Amino acid sequence: MKLLILNGPNLNMLGVREPEIYGTQSYRDLEAYLRAEAEKLGCEIEIFQSNHEGDLVDRIQQAYGRFDGIVINPAAYTHTSIAILDALKAVGLPAVEVHLSDVDAREPFRRISYAGLACKMTYQGHGFAGYRMAMEFLCGAGA
Ligand code: DQA
Repeated sequence: MKLLILNGPNLNMLGVREPEIYGTQSYRDLEAYLRAEAEKLGCEIEIFQSNHEGDLVDRIQQAYGRFDGIVINPAAYTHTSIAILDALKAVGLPAVEVHLSDVDAREPFRRISYAGLACKMTYQGHGFAGYRMAMEFLCGAGA
Protein backbone atom coordinates (compact mmCIF):
# COMPACT_ATOMS: atom_id res chain seq x y z
CA MET A 1 0.00 0.00 0.00
CA LYS A 2 1.57 3.24 -1.14
CA LEU A 3 0.07 6.52 0.03
CA LEU A 4 0.73 10.07 -1.08
CA ILE A 5 0.42 12.59 1.76
CA LEU A 6 -0.21 16.13 0.55
CA ASN A 7 -0.11 19.27 2.67
CA GLY A 8 -1.16 22.69 1.43
CA PRO A 9 -0.18 26.29 2.09
CA ASN A 10 1.23 27.51 5.39
CA LEU A 11 1.47 24.05 6.91
CA ASN A 12 5.24 24.45 6.58
CA MET A 13 4.80 27.16 9.23
CA LEU A 14 3.49 24.74 11.86
CA GLY A 15 4.91 25.53 15.28
CA VAL A 16 5.08 29.23 14.39
CA ARG A 17 1.63 29.91 12.94
CA GLU A 18 -1.24 30.42 15.38
CA PRO A 19 0.02 27.88 17.95
CA GLU A 20 -3.21 28.25 19.92
CA ILE A 21 -4.97 26.63 16.93
CA TYR A 22 -2.33 24.43 15.33
CA GLY A 23 -0.10 23.56 18.29
CA THR A 24 3.60 24.05 18.88
CA GLN A 25 5.00 21.13 16.90
CA SER A 26 6.78 21.96 13.65
CA TYR A 27 6.26 20.66 10.12
CA ARG A 28 9.39 18.54 10.56
CA ASP A 29 7.75 17.03 13.64
CA LEU A 30 4.69 16.23 11.52
CA GLU A 31 6.85 14.54 8.88
CA ALA A 32 8.61 12.46 11.55
CA TYR A 33 5.22 11.52 13.05
CA LEU A 34 3.88 10.47 9.64
CA ARG A 35 6.90 8.30 8.88
CA ALA A 36 6.75 6.61 12.30
CA GLU A 37 3.01 5.91 12.03
CA ALA A 38 3.31 4.67 8.44
CA GLU A 39 6.01 2.23 9.50
CA LYS A 40 3.79 0.90 12.30
CA LEU A 41 0.95 0.44 9.82
CA GLY A 42 3.24 -1.14 7.26
CA CYS A 43 2.39 1.31 4.50
CA GLU A 44 4.76 3.20 2.27
CA ILE A 45 4.36 6.97 2.12
CA GLU A 46 5.60 9.95 0.17
CA ILE A 47 5.07 13.37 1.75
CA PHE A 48 4.78 16.63 -0.17
CA GLN A 49 3.99 20.17 0.98
CA SER A 50 3.43 23.19 -1.22
CA ASN A 51 2.14 26.72 -0.93
CA HIS A 52 1.10 26.61 -4.61
CA GLU A 53 -2.20 25.25 -5.85
CA GLY A 54 -0.84 24.12 -9.23
CA ASP A 55 1.97 22.14 -7.60
CA LEU A 56 -0.60 20.25 -5.54
CA VAL A 57 -2.67 19.59 -8.69
CA ASP A 58 0.48 18.31 -10.46
CA ARG A 59 1.29 15.93 -7.60
CA ILE A 60 -2.26 14.57 -7.55
CA GLN A 61 -2.11 13.95 -11.30
CA GLN A 62 1.30 12.27 -11.00
CA ALA A 63 -0.11 9.94 -8.33
CA TYR A 64 -2.24 8.20 -10.97
CA GLY A 65 -0.92 4.66 -11.43
CA ARG A 66 1.80 5.20 -8.81
CA PHE A 67 -0.11 5.39 -5.51
CA ASP A 68 -2.97 3.46 -3.94
CA GLY A 69 -4.45 6.40 -2.06
CA ILE A 70 -4.07 10.04 -1.10
CA VAL A 71 -4.19 11.72 2.30
CA ILE A 72 -4.68 15.43 1.79
CA ASN A 73 -4.76 18.50 3.99
CA PRO A 74 -5.33 21.17 1.35
CA ALA A 75 -5.21 23.86 4.09
CA ALA A 76 -6.77 27.12 2.83
CA TYR A 77 -7.25 25.61 -0.67
CA THR A 78 -9.83 23.33 0.94
CA HIS A 79 -12.26 26.21 0.91
CA THR A 80 -11.45 27.66 -2.52
CA SER A 81 -9.97 25.14 -4.93
CA ILE A 82 -12.14 23.52 -7.54
CA ALA A 83 -8.88 22.63 -9.33
CA ILE A 84 -7.82 20.34 -6.46
CA LEU A 85 -11.31 18.82 -6.34
CA ASP A 86 -11.20 18.16 -10.09
CA ALA A 87 -7.70 16.65 -9.87
CA LEU A 88 -8.81 14.25 -7.12
CA LYS A 89 -11.83 13.28 -9.22
CA ALA A 90 -9.66 12.91 -12.34
CA VAL A 91 -7.29 10.35 -10.82
CA GLY A 92 -10.07 8.56 -8.94
CA LEU A 93 -7.77 7.30 -6.18
CA PRO A 94 -9.31 6.78 -2.73
CA ALA A 95 -8.65 10.01 -0.86
CA VAL A 96 -9.09 11.13 2.75
CA GLU A 97 -9.20 14.75 3.91
CA VAL A 98 -7.43 15.83 7.10
CA HIS A 99 -7.53 19.07 9.07
CA LEU A 100 -5.55 19.63 12.23
CA SER A 101 -8.19 21.99 13.58
CA ASP A 102 -11.93 21.49 13.78
CA VAL A 103 -12.82 23.61 10.75
CA ASP A 104 -16.56 23.40 11.46
CA ALA A 105 -16.06 25.14 14.81
CA ARG A 106 -14.22 28.10 13.24
CA GLU A 107 -15.21 30.87 10.79
CA PRO A 108 -18.18 30.04 8.55
CA PHE A 109 -16.03 30.18 5.38
CA ARG A 110 -14.07 27.17 6.63
CA ARG A 111 -17.21 25.02 6.63
CA ILE A 112 -17.07 24.66 2.85
CA SER A 113 -14.73 21.97 1.57
CA TYR A 114 -14.41 21.47 -2.16
CA ALA A 115 -11.70 18.79 -1.88
CA GLY A 116 -13.85 16.95 0.63
CA LEU A 117 -16.41 16.28 -2.10
CA ALA A 118 -13.91 13.88 -3.67
CA CYS A 119 -12.85 12.27 -0.38
CA LYS A 120 -14.18 9.12 1.24
CA MET A 121 -13.65 10.43 4.76
CA THR A 122 -12.65 13.55 6.70
CA TYR A 123 -10.78 13.69 10.01
CA GLN A 124 -10.69 17.15 11.59
CA GLY A 125 -9.78 18.53 14.98
CA HIS A 126 -7.56 15.61 15.98
CA GLY A 127 -4.20 17.34 15.38
CA PHE A 128 -1.48 15.05 14.02
CA ALA A 129 -3.54 11.97 14.96
CA GLY A 130 -5.98 12.79 12.14
CA TYR A 131 -3.28 11.78 9.63
CA ARG A 132 -2.82 8.44 11.40
CA MET A 133 -6.58 7.89 11.25
CA ALA A 134 -6.53 8.69 7.53
CA MET A 135 -3.64 6.29 6.88
CA GLU A 136 -5.40 3.60 8.91
CA PHE A 137 -8.60 4.15 6.91
CA LEU A 138 -6.78 3.78 3.60
CA CYS A 139 -4.45 0.96 4.66
CA GLY A 140 -7.16 -0.96 6.48
CA ALA A 141 -10.63 -2.09 5.62
CA GLY A 142 -12.06 1.43 5.37
CA ALA A 143 -11.08 2.00 1.74
C1 DQA B 1 -6.38 23.58 8.10
C2 DQA B 1 -7.68 24.39 8.24
C3 DQA B 1 -7.81 25.42 7.14
O1 DQA B 1 -9.02 26.14 7.27
C4 DQA B 1 -6.65 26.39 7.18
O2 DQA B 1 -6.73 27.30 6.10
C5 DQA B 1 -5.32 25.72 7.24
C6 DQA B 1 -5.17 24.48 8.02
C7 DQA B 1 -6.17 22.62 9.28
O3 DQA B 1 -5.34 21.72 9.16
O4 DQA B 1 -6.80 22.77 10.32
O5 DQA B 1 -4.35 26.24 6.72
O6 DQA B 1 -6.47 22.79 6.93
